[in-house]
Amino acid sequence: MISMSRRTLLKGSAIAGAFGLGAGLGPLRRALAAPDPVMLDALITEASLDGRSVTRKIMSYAGPDAPQPSGPGAMPPTIRMVRDKPFAARLTNKLDEPTTMHWHGVRVPNNMDGVPFLTQPYIYPGDSFDYAFTPPDAGTFWYHPHCNTLTQMGRGMTGMLIVESPDDPVFDAEVVLNLRDFRLGGDGQFIEQFKARDAAKTGTFGTVRTANWQTETVQDAPSGGLVRIRLAATDVTRIYNLKLDGAEGLVVALDGQPVPEPYALDVVVLSPGQRLDVVVRMPDREGAVVRIMDYRPSTPKSVASLRAVGTSLRRSLGDVPALAPNPNAEPDLSAATDIPLVLSATAEEAARDSICGTLGYSFWAINKVPWPGDSADPMAPLAEMKLGRTYVLNLENVTPHAHPIHLHGMNFHVLSSSKGPVAPLVSDTYLMLPDEKVRLAVVADNPGDWVFHCHIIEHQKTGMTGYFRVA
Ligand code: C2O
Ligand code: CU
Repeated sequence: MISMSRRTLLKGSAIAGAFGLGAGLGPLRRALAAPDPVMLDALITEASLDGRSVTRKIMSYAGPDAPQPSGPGAMPPTIRMVRDKPFAARLTNKLDEPTTMHWHGVRVPNNMDGVPFLTQPYIYPGDSFDYAFTPPDAGTFWYHPHCNTLTQMGRGMTGMLIVESPDDPVFDAEVVLNLRDFRLGGDGQFIEQFKARDAAKTGTFGTVRTANWQTETVQDAPSGGLVRIRLAATDVTRIYNLKLDGAEGLVVALDGQPVPEPYALDVVVLSPGQRLDVVVRMPDREGAVVRIMDYRPSTPKSVASLRAVGTSLRRSLGDVPALAPNPNAEPDLSAATDIPLVLSATAEEAARDSICGTLGYSFWAINKVPWPGDSADPMAPLAEMKLGRTYVLNLENVTPHAHPIHLHGMNFHVLSSSKGPVAPLVSDTYLMLPDEKVRLAVVADNPGDWVFHCHIIEHQKTGMTGYFRVA
């Protein structure tokens, strides 16, 4: 009986719908967060994504209480955990191919990182894997598989992950937005996930743009209230230039890491893997609509909107505090070692087969070596790092395309860029512009093999991947 009710409670605590106004539930969630595993199934389902037809062969995640969800509810659940509190999840593979789970941006022990061969074996169909870790950072993160990723992520397996903190300020509402595309034909069914000629350039774009798996997401929020919006770009390709229309907003965190001083949102570039936390002051007038717009490539497009409801709460953006910083180790630049890393195109060649999926090509490389695919005998690490030491990743993008480069297991501090002044951000994903040179400092404080790859998944899967060994 006890475990039954606990499981029922967990549904409302560790896993909450992305549509909930969650802020008021914070203390309750904290009290209930226990290391009982959250049950997650990777599965195949169907739902309407384009608003017209039912798309089949969607890949998603579900909890025990919604084994075959459909509609927007088929979207992977938003997983909530609490900073410094143990978290556990049992992932059961109900797909017909192997999978693994990666907790993007969360600093986990290496054997919980979800990279096949490097950190764990595949989870075969019918098998489960127990993940357990204690998140050290509060903020907005996300989760996705690290096996056959272009297909599995492309077909839906990208979910939101929120690490709460007892220090989080309480807002009038919280809205979670999972931004991504699907590549569907006119009949609403999946079409080929990529075109080789696009994989060799920007990556292949989806045809149906969604927020929370809906083409037109409208959420209610209290008039005159302060709303924390947590956005993640979980698409395999698309880079957004986000702006607010109809309200003012303050950026409070980027990539899960609080900014030192909240600042007015003008345009925020959000590339695959990155997150944005913005606090919006809703209009006073009931029914007024606030839009989040994407200005990339050019014609502005509404990504999602909020509609003011109720009488005005008359809040002020001036009351928004800075979020408490996360405990990131300070780099010791006086004793740092440089690691040169060149992102380049490579001579086109056939890639070898891998159980975690190959696109059949190599187009990209790091330090001239294209990643050969996940295998039991991976190539040598890009560099070996000594535990506790500071390293400076001296990155150079010698391609005419942008690459959101992502590091597992550790955060980096952005030191400088050839493109101009940079904010001293802490992050796990940096968007390298064409021909940009950037210096990122990493404190090697997490032992293990950590992959480092472009988060445009076609680039990742056609060579732009490597790893660091920390020991
Ligand atoms: Cu978000 Cu290696 O990934
Ligand atoms: Cu790339």
